[in-house]
Amino acid sequence: MEKQFDFVGRNLFDLDTYSREEIYAILEASKVMKEINLRDYKKLPTLKGKTVCTLFFENSTRTRISFELAASRLSADLVSFSASTSSLAKGESLQDTVYTLNAMGIDLYIIRHTCPGSPQLTHKYSQKPVLNAGDGSHAHPTQALLDIFSIWERLGNLDGMKITIVGDIAHSRVVRSNLIGMKKLGADVTVCAPKTLMPGNMEEVFGCKVEYDLKKALKDADVIMGLRMQFERQTEGLFPSLEEYTKAYVLSKNTIKYAKKDVLIMHPGPMNRGIEILPEIADSKHSVIVEQVANGVAVRMALLFLMLGGKM
Ligand code: NCD
Repeated sequence: MEKQFDFVGRNLFDLDTYSREEIYAILEASKVMKEINLRDYKKLPTLKGKTVCTLFFENSTRTRISFELAASRLSADLVSFSASTSSLAKGESLQDTVYTLNAMGIDLYIIRHTCPGSPQLTHKYSQKPVLNAGDGSHAHPTQALLDIFSIWERLGNLDGMKITIVGDIAHSRVVRSNLIGMKKLGADVTVCAPKTLMPGNMEEVFGCKVEYDLKKALKDADVIMGLRMQFERQTEGLFPSLEEYTKAYVLSKNTIKYAKKDVLIMHPGPMNRGIEILPEIADSKHSVIVEQVANGVAVRMALLFLMLGGKM
């Protein structure tokens, strides 16, 4: 693999510190990793001798498993820290947890935490590269990279593509990281939600369009991404009832007909079928939702490879 950029030792807190060219370099590396994942023998010796630690303080299915698979497919040793079974339950702080793990020779940390800024703190305490696997409602850059990879692979380009993201925009870390990355690659992004689930300054901060009417938001879209209602982050009733939300915002045959004929349907998962998306759409020929999961392993392999200085 041709090395044009230096990723070694860098952190990935969010996509704001990565250029358009660097994002493309990650996509190219992910393409190579995807080919390896399609082989019968899906393993490279490239990170032999390196130790990767996943620190998950919040629930996860696909992100955690895909990071762990990515590390083991590159032959790294893996330490898997789980908040519920650790000394955290005995009151140990994040700082002491990281000091303890660091003393055992970890080379890179992957952290998911409810508190925004936890990845930065993990780097401060460890002085090792850190990958953000989701910090509160703030950022989820590896999800954004796998989403961008999935679009790039299918459509060849993001430049000028009309991407509409629908759902709980206010509480989604996925949308924030995606907006940064997609805008860098030239996409025309519209976010759509009821007013109470839409932060006030989206246009100024992210350069996207804001639309409250689903049909208008979906008009001529090349890509539609549905987002889950993040009940665990909502502290007050932000819409009258789920039925009313679904009536106005669900992705269904009836609503996606306003988009382009061969529109791609995406969702980061976990899906709440029947709330933000109907099975008729989630399981349709338009859907790349399962492909996104597969691509997640490839993208995370590429990131570990690049950040730990793997050789091919
Ligand atoms: C997302 C997350 O955790 O932010 N899921 C994921 O990583 N695939 C989205 C969500 O929880 O709704």
